[in-house]
Amino acid sequence: MKIVVIGGSGLIGSKVVQRLGAHGHQAVAASPNSGVNSVTGEGLAEVLKGASVVVDASNSPSWEDAAVLKFFETSTRNLLTYQAAAGVGHHVALSVVGTDRLSESGYFRAKIAQEKLIKESSIPYSIVHATQFFEFLKGLADISVEGGKVHLPPVLFQPMAADDVASGVARIAVGPPINGIVEIAGPEQFRVDELVRRRLATLKEPREVIADPHARYDGAEVGERTLLPGKDARLGDTRFETWLKQSASAAAAAKGA
Ligand SMILES: NC(=O)c1ccc[n+]([C@@H]2O[C@H](COP(=O)([O-])OP(=O)(O)OC[C@H]3O[C@@H](n4cnc5c(N)ncnc54)[C@H](OP(=O)(O)O)[C@@H]3O)[C@@H](O)[C@H]2O)c1
Repeated sequence: MKIVVIGGSGLIGSKVVQRLGAHGHQAVAASPNSGVNSVTGEGLAEVLKGASVVVDASNSPSWEDAAVLKFFETSTRNLLTYQAAAGVGHHVALSVVGTDRLSESGYFRAKIAQEKLIKESSIPYSIVHATQFFEFLKGLADISVEGGKVHLPPVLFQPMAADDVASGVARIAVGPPINGIVEIAGPEQFRVDELVRRRLATLKEPREVIADPHARYDGAEVGERTLLPGKDARLGDTRFETWLKQSASAAAAAKGA
């Protein structure tokens, strides 16, 4: 099958392309770097010729409220229009567990808008809701700084390795459209503040992490279970400690190379 991965140069997209290729599919990475821009429409008609599936693993370069909304609305509208014209029969989009409960956040309002366009379109679809990536823990600290300290709510979450996200997305891309949402998550639950503190310590980052019950998660108020997946979520295998060891050896190997 020809499967076009929008955002195919990104963290998850590049791993999805690898996995699909290893299973004998013609996986095409598409992003501005390779001349395909889902916001302007540049290159879309060409790359979608003969494709059976589109995986949207793109992300907005800016997370400012208006910019991120414009990105996901314009990009998704374009993808769905060009896909309909090219006869692509399955649209797979990567989104986030709990998106519908996080509408106080500008980023999540944009993801809600993206999902609404997909559900309302005539194209069969699968929306994959993944939990936070281990790779995103430092980024989460970066967007949660107040007065030089990282303020995070001590609520539960069930984060996962990007490798497991990509395997989950690739598996869904080669299957029949779900016409609904499927959740994927990691094998263990943690408290958000606790895991970010552990991650910053391994990176030898001096920033203090405060467990703050009033802190927001990317602008949204969250409760104890807001970020958790439901009981039917498909779970990845990679535990946090295993991922830490793997990423430390990968970093050491890259340094030595
Ligand atoms: N962070 C988390 O914990 C988390 C959890 C669950 C779900 N997600 C979702 O996962 C998705 C992917 O995230 P990621 O971290 O893998 O993203 P990423 O590494 O930041 O990659 C973003 C990708 O989007 C592409 N892109 C940017 N502008 C584009 C445009 N105009 N047209 C086409 N492609 C464009 C980039 O292409 P270039 O390289 O060419 O610029 C890049 O390939 C996001 O939708 C996010 O909501 C994230």
